[in-house]
This record gives sequence, C-alpha cells and structure tokens, in this order.
Amino acid sequence: MILNPPVIAIDGPSGSGKGTIARRVADALGFHLLDSGALYRLTAIAAKNKGISLDDGDALALLARDLDIRFDGNKARSERILLDGEDVTLEVRQESTGAEASAVAGLTEVRTALLERQRAFQKAPGLVADGRDMGTHVFPSALVKIFLTASAEERAKRRHKQLKDKGMNVTLAALSRDIEDRDRRDSERSVAPLKPARDARILDSSGLSIEAVTNTVLEWVAEL
Ligand code: DC
Repeated sequence: MILNPPVIAIDGPSGSGKGTIARRVADALGFHLLDSGALYRLTAIAAKNKGISLDDGDALALLARDLDIRFDGNKARSERILLDGEDVTLEVRQESTGAEASAVAGLTEVRTALLERQRAFQKAPGLVADGRDMGTHVFPSALVKIFLTASAEERAKRRHKQLKDKGMNVTLAALSRDIEDRDRRDSERSVAPLKPARDARILDSSGLSIEAVTNTVLEWVAEL
C-alpha cells in the first residue's frame, strides 16, 4: 500500500499567525510548506498586470491555472516570490493585494483552478499547508487539522507590527477595518467559506508566544 505523504492543515482568519506558525512547524519537521493565500494573492497581481477584471471568473481561472510562480524558499527566513520571473515579494504582502485576493478567492472558477496546484504540494516527507480551506476542501484527509484564531484586536496589532517592520505605512484603525471586512467576506462566501473543519482542533493564540503556539502544534502532531 502506498501512503500519501502526511499533511498538517493550518487554517484561520487573517492575522491569526498561520503563516508564521506553519513555517516554524514545517521547519521543525523538515516538511514542505504551502502558503495557499499567496496563490490567491498572485492571481490578483497577475490579473492586474494583464488588465483582467477581478470579477471575470473564466479569465481568472485560466490565469490561475497557468501562473508562472516560483517560491525561492530559504527555510526560516521569509522567501522571495517570483511571478513571471519578477520579484513580487513586497507586492504580495501588501494589504491592498490581500483585499483583492479575497475578492478573487470568492470565485468558484478560481478556487477550482487552484485546487490541483495546491494538491501538487503534497510531497514526501510531508506538507504543512496554511490557508482558509486546507482542512475542509483541499486536504480533507489531512493528518492534523488546526484552526488557529486570535481576537480581532490582537490580529490587527500583529499585522500592524508586521507591516511596519517591512517599512509599510498603515494605521491600526485602517487595518482593523480591513481585517473585519476580510473576515466577513471570507466567512460569508458561498464557496469554501472560512470555517473550522469538523475534525479540526481549535487553537486560540491570543496572548501566546510564537514558540508556545508552535510547540502546541508539534505536540499534537507527536500524539499521532
Ligand atoms: O492568508 P492570506 O491573507 O495570504 O490570504 C489572502 C486571501 O486569500 C484571503 O483573504 C482569502 C483568500 N484565501 C482563500 O480564500 N483560501 C485560502 N486557502 C487562502 C487564502
């Protein structure tokens, strides 16, 4: 019997720390990493570059299927992201790109187009996948499913610090509004909405350090 490489699915709202935790867990286990949000963000950027409207599902699906992406990974440090050979690392992380990604992610055609691309990341020795629907749709038979949350206030503060550290200029109030809007759109959409899988373990990271959250996830993995 050939067993599929194990998947650890980490889902949750924006600013919950999924990206950081997923990277730490992947590094600790020596697993591959899938930042699925980046695929939606890159689809939005590519659409803008090519003048494709963000509500044209069919054109966006074709674009998403054929995106020329490279993740220049270097483990613990954040990696470079190349789109059509161009470094778009900073643009990918911008708040405006996140909002556009959220709009594009509401289209069934786009989600279907990205499904196989995401599943292709499941390679030996294993995968840590972070997103909104990793445990519910993309990897329903994931070995461990975690739904990572934190209070809206804490998420806005974390995001603010993250962006400031990257030299980006946004106010905390504007970020809080953006996070609330995005949470609403991601949770209320009809296709693959943000919600914990039935068999997910909920982890509230409010007030917890990155190390504490990473260790909890690693303990849950070790229990299996
Ligand atoms: O995790 P992120 O902030 O990079 O994601 C950007 C947007 O992409 C998010 O608002 C919703 C969407 N997304 C999604 O719908 N499904 C995923 N698996 C990942 C992201």
